[in-house]
Amino acid sequence: MPDLPARNVFPHTAQVNGQGRLVIGGCDVVSLAADFGTPLYVFDEQTLRDACQTFLREFRARYPKTQVLYAAKAFSNLALARLLAEEGLGMDVVSGGELALAKASGISPSQVYFHGNNKSLQELQEALAWGVGRIVVDSSHELVLLERLAAQANKTQDILLRISPGVDPHTHAKITTGILDSKFGFSVATGDAERAVRQALSSRHLRLSGLHCHIGSQLFEVEPYQEAMRITLTFAAQMREYGLKLTELGAGGGFAIPYLRDQRPPSTAEYAEALATTLKSSLKELGFGEPAFIIEPGRSIVGPAGVALYTVGARKEIPGVRTYLSVDGGMGDNIRPALYDAQYEAFVANRMDAPATDVVTIAGKYCESGDILVKDVPLAPSQPGDIIALPAAGAYCIPMASNYNMAPRPAIVMVKDGEARLIRRRETYQDLMSTDVA
Ligand SMILES: Cc1ncc(COP(=O)(O)O)c(C=O)c1O
Repeated sequence: MPDLPARNVFPHTAQVNGQGRLVIGGCDVVSLAADFGTPLYVFDEQTLRDACQTFLREFRARYPKTQVLYAAKAFSNLALARLLAEEGLGMDVVSGGELALAKASGISPSQVYFHGNNKSLQELQEALAWGVGRIVVDSSHELVLLERLAAQANKTQDILLRISPGVDPHTHAKITTGILDSKFGFSVATGDAERAVRQALSSRHLRLSGLHCHIGSQLFEVEPYQEAMRITLTFAAQMREYGLKLTELGAGGGFAIPYLRDQRPPSTAEYAEALATTLKSSLKELGFGEPAFIIEPGRSIVGPAGVALYTVGARKEIPGVRTYLSVDGGMGDNIRPALYDAQYEAFVANRMDAPATDVVTIAGKYCESGDILVKDVPLAPSQPGDIIALPAAGAYCIPMASNYNMAPRPAIVMVKDGEARLIRRRETYQDLMSTDVA
């Protein structure tokens, strides 16, 4: 069988078959495109399960009291949520919608953590009514609101406070969250975090079980995590004088995945080693016991498992400038390149064995010049009707999808052992008008 180029960006089961076609989960993706249409998102079940098991194994081997929550924002889907619950992951949700998904998935509410910098009254009521495990409080406004709602409901709600440790994680500005100038969390530097701890400890219907921080996403360096943990734990030690008991510490998500063939982010074991080492030494140094340790991977669970498929259409050559190859999807299903200059590899899925002798810019079909999926990428020569595969498309594509230009959002299939199961059907034109009132 021909070799798979750039293996590091593909799902674990990816292969090239004797006809030179990309195969994932035992399914020929060209047949999937014919059966389900394009754009199509394909998720490999094996890669998803491997990621869950690897996170649990590597972190618990070093710090047994680790709990892994899936950050549902990376890709929210019922079949996926059930699979992840089956693998023993909890869930981090950030909205009433994600909360409803968690509820429908059958996960225990105690395994659900509710984040967000501006949760609405209704969302907080829904969380309290369902009995979510933790509400991760992000502002003093929320502390007041939640205390009132919990009192009305005659409940005591476990909470964590989201701390902003002031650490730059060296990633894209739009996915940096733990610096001083951020909308998220209580800043340690300004004294906000201290005020929040005191306010939380004096709230009769809130039980402060610990602190949380999340400094950003797609973090290739482990040092910013270590620094954020040291700052958060040092702060927690200072807060003992007010009565803070640290039963939980959340370190967020942000573990990087390879999008390009030359990217080598730390392995899960390397992240686990770095985080657990710092955690254990800081806990010891500061005289803490062993709090539960919470991590929230999103991208690293679903990103590598997903591949986007498109059909090639028009080609426009501008001599000496650039060649545009248009496909039938684009910014409507994947806004990441337009939003934060995200880069991808691209392949002609029906000719994986052909050398990449062409250089093209893969454009979407939306009415925006910025609707470019991949700029100046080497690709095998292609023709209309060929199938383009964009690997590492499992995170933050579908959940950010829009209906711009009245485009129905794509179908999604989960593949395993040669079987493809539809986990979200393609939207219809009727769906697009179903909420209009005329
Ligand atoms: C609080 C929190 N936890 C976890 C995540 C997941 O991050 P990632 O998908 O990079 O792992 C995010 C992402 O924004 C987040 O805000």
